[in-house]
Order: sequence, then C-alpha cells, then structure tokens
Amino acid sequence: MARAYVAEHPRLAEVLAHADRVSGSTGVQLADSVFLHKAVLRLRPTTVLECGTGRSTFVLAQAMAEAAQPGTRPRLVSMEHDRAWFEAALRAFPKDEFPFVEIVHSPQALHGYSFVRGTVYSSVPTAPYDLVFVDGPGQEMSSVHPHTMCNLDFIRLVEQSDRPVRAIIDNRKHTVLAYTVILGRAKVRFFPGGRGQGSLGIVAPVTRKDLLLADKMAMRKTLFPEFVRIGGDTPLAFLEG
Ligand SMILES: C[S@@+](CC[C@H](N)C(=O)[O-])C[C@H]1O[C@@H](n2cnc3c(N)ncnc32)[C@H](O)[C@@H]1O
Repeated sequence: MARAYVAEHPRLAEVLAHADRVSGSTGVQLADSVFLHKAVLRLRPTTVLECGTGRSTFVLAQAMAEAAQPGTRPRLVSMEHDRAWFEAALRAFPKDEFPFVEIVHSPQALHGYSFVRGTVYSSVPTAPYDLVFVDGPGQEMSSVHPHTMCNLDFIRLVEQSDRPVRAIIDNRKHTVLAYTVILGRAKVRFFPGGRGQGSLGIVAPVTRKDLLLADKMAMRKTLFPEFVRIGGDTPLAFLEG
C-alpha cells in the first residue's frame, strides 16, 4: 500500500530516494512517511514544527512544497538535540530546494506541566505552529530520572497557543499517554500499526483552553470520573485487595 502510494507520487519517491542516499537516517518507516505526506496535503499547514530531524524532514518539506498555496509562506522548523546528527543533517539537507526549512540545534532539557515531567528542546523558535510532528528528543534523561519519560514540546506550545494546533506522534507511547492525561481522551488517540500503517499517536486540534490539568473543575468533570467507584467495592474492601 505504502509502496503503491509512493509510486503514484513521483516527487515523494524522488525525495525519499535522495534521503536514503544522503541522510543515513534511521528515521520513520515508509508507511509513516506516506502518512506524513498525506496529512500535510490534507491539512495544508503553513507552519510545522518537527521534533527530531531526519528522513521525515525531507518528507515534510516535500509535502509542504506541494501543498503551499499562492500567497502563503510555508515554514518548517526541524529541531535536533544531538550536535553531530544536526551537523550531518545540515550537510545532507537540500536547502536550495527547500529554503523554507530551518534545521535548529538545541540541547535536550526538562520541562514540567502540572504533575507531568518530560523532555523538551532547550529553546524552540517562536511561531504560530499549525502542526507538530513528535519524533524527538530522546525520552530519557538518566541524569535526572532512570525511567522513560514523555516529550513535552507540544504541550509547552499548547500552553502558549490560542489557535488550534495538531500533533502527530511517532509511536512514543509514554508521550501519547501523557498527552491523554493532559488533554483528555476526546482529543488524543493511539493508532496501532499494521496493514501498511506505522504506530501513531494523533492529537486533534487543541488550544490552551483544552489543557484539563490547568483547571481543577475541568479535570474533575472529565478525567477523574474514570477513577471513581469500582464495582460494588467499599474503600475498605478495595484496600484489602
Ligand atoms: C527516531 S530518530 C528520527 C528522526 C526523524 N524524525 C526521522 O524520521 O528520521 C530520532 C533521533 O535519533 C537520532 N538519529 C536518527 N538517525 C540517526 C543516525 N543515523 N545517526 C545518529 N543519530 C541518529 C537523532 O538525534 C534523531 O533526532
């Protein structure tokens, strides 16, 4: 299925072949590249933030070039925390072909939102982003915490955003779970891979008004009822186990 789609989109096929030749990225699977291409053609985002530079940068750039409407100026900001990989990506990326792409190096840092802690890039260019692709930075910071965390760049943007922003998350289940707790089940879904589709998390359009943990009453009405009352157990019976 993914191969047939690529065959029908020669410019995508070309850019993927180019990425394979020059980038050395371990990056997204073919099915995810196809999904990113389709999503950009469907939504036509003007400004996209990519967390984690690589093969997907080529795909997003190509899709944004195809989707650009006259009079709009596309912008793709691609963040990379690893300096060596950033430098390799800068050398490999065809900047002349896609002048609207900025590849930005920024070390990994820690961010907190309510009781959730996760990794972010230290500094991300400010912009009215329409779409975020979450595939970096790493979810570990062993200096801080031995366990897998989530990525919070998207949530940090939503905290500042009065305009709707969407996210596509490449597999990262801890991140999907964290976003579900922060934004509620109605806005976040995990789509397991299979039949030509990689595992993806999707966040429907959200603004800062959708951050449920920011508002105790909203949290009590939305997230908390799932934890209330389990069968006919009394607190004492439940405590006994
Ligand atoms: C899961 S990779 C994906 C990056 C990108 N979204 C893609 O699809 O190619 C996440 C991170 O791994 C690192 N990485 C990816 N490919 C690499 C390679 N060939 N050598 C070194 N680091 C790599 C980079 O730090 C990158 O941000």
